[in-house]
Amino acid sequence: MDDQELVQRAQAARENAYAPYSHYKVGAALLATSGQVFTGCNVENAVYPLCTCAERTAVVKAVSEGHREFVAIAIATRNGGSPCGSCRQVLREFAPHLRVLLLNEAGITREYTLDQLLPDSFGPESLA
Ligand code: THU
Repeated sequence: MDDQELVQRAQAARENAYAPYSHYKVGAALLATSGQVFTGCNVENAVYPLCTCAERTAVVKAVSEGHREFVAIAIATRNGGSPCGSCRQVLREFAPHLRVLLLNEAGITREYTLDQLLPDSFGPESLA
C-alpha cells in the first residue's frame, strides 16, 4: 500500500459522504500496521450535533474489527481541509505519531505527523 493507493482509497470513500447539510464531503483512508485499510466518510444527521466525521468513522471501523495500530491516514476534501480537534484526539489514542496526508481533489497538499497537529497531547499514558 503506497501513498498514492491510500490517496485513491480516501478519495473513493469521499464519494460515499452523506453531507446534505454542510455539502462538505470528507473521505478518509486509515492504513493499519497489518496492511489493511479502513475507510470512512462523514455521515451527517438532521440533528446536527450527531454528525460523524470521516476520520472517526474510519478509526471506529478499524478498532471494532480488532486493529489498533496505524501507520498513516489520508483525508480527502475539496480544499485540503485539516482534521478537526476531536478527530485528532481520537486518532492520537491509538497512533500519536501517525502520518497525516491532507488531500484536495488533485492529490496531496500537505503532510504532517499527528504530534505536529496535536502537540503536548493527553493520552492513555497520562492516566498512569
Ligand atoms: N468533517 C469531517 O468529516 N472531518 C473533519 O475533520 C472536519 C469536518 C465533516 C463534519 C461535517 O459533516 C462536515 O465535515 C462539515 O463540518
